[in-house]
Amino acid sequence: PRVAVVFGGRSSEHAISCVTAGSVLAAIDPERYDVVPIGIAVDGRWVLESGDPERLRIEGPDRLPAVDGDRATIALAPEATSTGLVVTEPSQPPRTLGDVDVVFPLLHGPWGEDGTIQGMFEMAGVRYVGAGVLASAVSMDKAYMKVVLAAAGLPVLPSITVTAREWERDPAGCRERAASIGYPQFVKPARGGSSFGISKVHDASELDAAIEEAVRFDPKVLVETAAVDAREIECGVLQALDGTPETSSPAELRVGGDHEFYDFEAKYLPGQDTEIDIPADLPPDVTAQVQELAVRAFEAVGCEGLARVDFFVLPDGRVVVNEINTMPGFTPTSMYPQMWAASGVDYPALVDRLIQLALA
Ligand code: DAL
Ligand code: MG
Repeated sequence: PRVAVVFGGRSSEHAISCVTAGSVLAAIDPERYDVVPIGIAVDGRWVLESGDPERLRIEGPDRLPAVDGDRATIALAPEATSTGLVVTEPSQPPRTLGDVDVVFPLLHGPWGEDGTIQGMFEMAGVRYVGAGVLASAVSMDKAYMKVVLAAAGLPVLPSITVTAREWERDPAGCRERAASIGYPQFVKPARGGSSFGISKVHDASELDAAIEEAVRFDPKVLVETAAVDAREIECGVLQALDGTPETSSPAELRVGGDHEFYDFEAKYLPGQDTEIDIPADLPPDVTAQVQELAVRAFEAVGCEGLARVDFFVLPDGRVVVNEINTMPGFTPTSMYPQMWAASGVDYPALVDRLIQLALA
């Protein structure tokens, strides 16, 4: 079968997607699949890449993501363009997506993980890996995700939303609503990822700056009660070929000294003292609860294929769902593939399963 791998994209997580794509392209079995790599530049241009995964592989520290303003850019090869998306060979003549059997949209964030490109594939009648339009859209928007999860009886932390318009017209009212859920808080762009634009707010004096930062990324902002002294646990969900959602061993991540939370640097840059335990050192009943909640969250939003569900385990033992990622970071050192590797599904097998699920 012919597989189009789509990566890059217009969101602030462009660079992460490029790193992911380099790994996935290298792992797809060329004996089984004819791969068509399609890059989307940060300005939205679609570029047909050469099929050579070597050209997209991340090789050294100079190739790590760097934040440039509110865009992440990455040099994947010396001939990278100013958009951060590499054009390894002169573009070939355009091909239609009708030429492919399945699309693997390795895109994070808006215009990729939020149902928009999934809608385009639906319109074009093309199969694709991962969640559909609704599950993608709901999971991308942290406010709606909580509405859906809470309605399904899943535990989530209290939050309010503030739109850029509300903030402009009635900042005092927004501050009052934010204060009503207590401090500390996390202020997040509602439809973001990789911790871009997220701030921790310790008391009311820090709220304004946090909202100003978050609205740079999204005119809709989530203000959420922070889980104090909580453990951060993640769990992978992957459908079996018959559609049954299966769970990986959960993992725990602990961020090092300089980081108050799992921010962009702690997530992606080396030497940040982020420690990862796979499997997480949890009592068996808590592990079982995390896995059960991961499946319930997956089903509540109607996910397909894969998801990484992130949790907090509170000091009193309660487990709450933080969020669902319908296209989690996917390099071999990313949490999702590592959790599956520890659960008996190695990276190439994971990539293959996802393509097979989409083709099924
Ligand atoms: N949004 C990033 C890629 C993640 O969830 O892993
Ligand atoms: Mg996320």
